[in-house]
Amino acid sequence: MHDDLSSDPAGDAVGDAPGARAVPWWQTATGYQVYPRSFCDSDGDGIGDIPGITSKLDHLADLGIGFIWLSPVYASPMADNGYDIADYRAIAPEFGTLDDFDRLVAEAKARGIGIVMDLVVNHSSSEHAWFRSACQGRDAPFHDYYIWRDPAPDGGPPDGRRAAFGGSAWSFVAEVGQYYLHLFSPAQPDLNWQNPGLRAEIWDMMRWWLARGIAGFRMDVISLIGKDVDGGIDEEGPYLHGFLQEMHREVLAGRDLVSIGESWSVSPETALMYCGRDRHELDMVFQFAHVKEGWDPVHGKFRPKPFDLVAFKRVMFDWQAVMTNDGWNSLFLTNHDLPRQVSKYGDDGEYRVRSAKALATLLHLMKGTPFVYQGEEIGMTNATFTAISQFRDLEILGHHAESVAAGMSEAEFIAGANVNGRDNTRTPMQWTDAPGAGFTAGTPWIDINDNHVRINVAADRADPDGVFAHYRRLIALRREKRVISHGALTPWHEPHPQVMVYTRDLDGERVTMIANVSGEEVRFAPDPALVAQGVCLVHNVAPRDAVTSDLALAPWEAFALLSRADGTTPLAA
Ligand code: NOJ
Repeated sequence: MHDDLSSDPAGDAVGDAPGARAVPWWQTATGYQVYPRSFCDSDGDGIGDIPGITSKLDHLADLGIGFIWLSPVYASPMADNGYDIADYRAIAPEFGTLDDFDRLVAEAKARGIGIVMDLVVNHSSSEHAWFRSACQGRDAPFHDYYIWRDPAPDGGPPDGRRAAFGGSAWSFVAEVGQYYLHLFSPAQPDLNWQNPGLRAEIWDMMRWWLARGIAGFRMDVISLIGKDVDGGIDEEGPYLHGFLQEMHREVLAGRDLVSIGESWSVSPETALMYCGRDRHELDMVFQFAHVKEGWDPVHGKFRPKPFDLVAFKRVMFDWQAVMTNDGWNSLFLTNHDLPRQVSKYGDDGEYRVRSAKALATLLHLMKGTPFVYQGEEIGMTNATFTAISQFRDLEILGHHAESVAAGMSEAEFIAGANVNGRDNTRTPMQWTDAPGAGFTAGTPWIDINDNHVRINVAADRADPDGVFAHYRRLIALRREKRVISHGALTPWHEPHPQVMVYTRDLDGERVTMIANVSGEEVRFAPDPALVAQGVCLVHNVAPRDAVTSDLALAPWEAFALLSRADGTTPLAA
């Protein structure tokens, strides 16, 4: 939290430069998201597991990350791959045991890596004991832990709310004679946060995990918990900030942890209500404005829009501006709900390696906490499925039925899912070129991308110019250089359709980041105020020791130069 000025998720010594003001550890750390089902399978059942994660910690320690955001590992029927929790204090058997989990925490800590748990408390699984009881009748224990409403006069759902994964957001339970609310799927009933007993259970459960030594929480769709059901407000409802402040008081305050709130609705106008320093709520929001830029405004993600760099820059720079003096940004281009970034924003063909590095450079040198999603560090690409039977995601399958019924062709739907669908990042981690990609000795739960014979950890790490080496450099720069973690960001050349430029300034040091976000060579005349000599911190084509008044940028070339603020005097890096 903001009020805890330690700097190590493992709770040990401060890692900042001597004499520097201590800052929270998560402001100089980089996060790494593990999607357990697809990371590493230790027992050959085709599903990744916790011992598999533990076996790969050295890979993550070499990368230099500070914490792992662990997607859910709790007991679950896996309707939504664990985002449907049946027991908040148990581990899913396919992922291992609590002992395995404790070992993961200890082994990670020994490498200076914290484990950040996914807290999924907008909804539970329909197989949670609370919900099973709640369905027994209106007087049953835990009935009020969920949200029930009478049928409409015609017997149908209480209102027209749609579920994110297709269909009505209401399902009827005959024993109760009412409908329950589920904003995602019927297997994910929304919890009734108005019930103080439910909130107390959640606070207790969070403290129970913290006592196991975890480093914090990533909070799933947290902006939905304060909804006003009858007022029709689901996102950022009137009770949200009261509940988050209660969570802070009851659980987060005074502890050395990081709290990250996922929200699809948070805007530059509302962001500081969550993570402003006087709010006592969360450390940062995980927001999606830049992602939604790539969706059709009417038809959504399954009808993708071409990438528009100017719009992307506007969104990213707006968020940087909002967090200039208060709050904190999360920085990411992909996660388990999004396409692979090199396929979505870069070039996963001829310039795969170079564009993967360019995207990493332009993201990691901004202010905020970067998140790397498993496989991103070697430039893994989207899946290219050809049949609907290859997809596993309930969102894709739910929308497939609806879209085809509404007249979309099967081919158009599959093409859209291959661009923006969630299974793109869920294909197994590519460790080696072996038949199971080093992920499994068995049959994987979802197809492995055929390109694992070329794109895999072993091959990339063997290459000193590989994607991994570039990420390692960027992650180390954030830990080591305060101008990168905390310098003020100034955008330049915002209307340029191919080039992204910003500077970071702190205490007389300047970092200038220039990236050609296109597959063409670009002749570019930087603003005279950017012309500087200096030391190249990172590059993906060849080192440069100056920003000159006339730059010929190779396709997808990106570099960062460290200079003095006056731009003239070279510095030692
Ligand atoms: C957001 C999660 O990231 C996503 O995977 C999940 O399906 C929904 N929340 C519902 O929990």
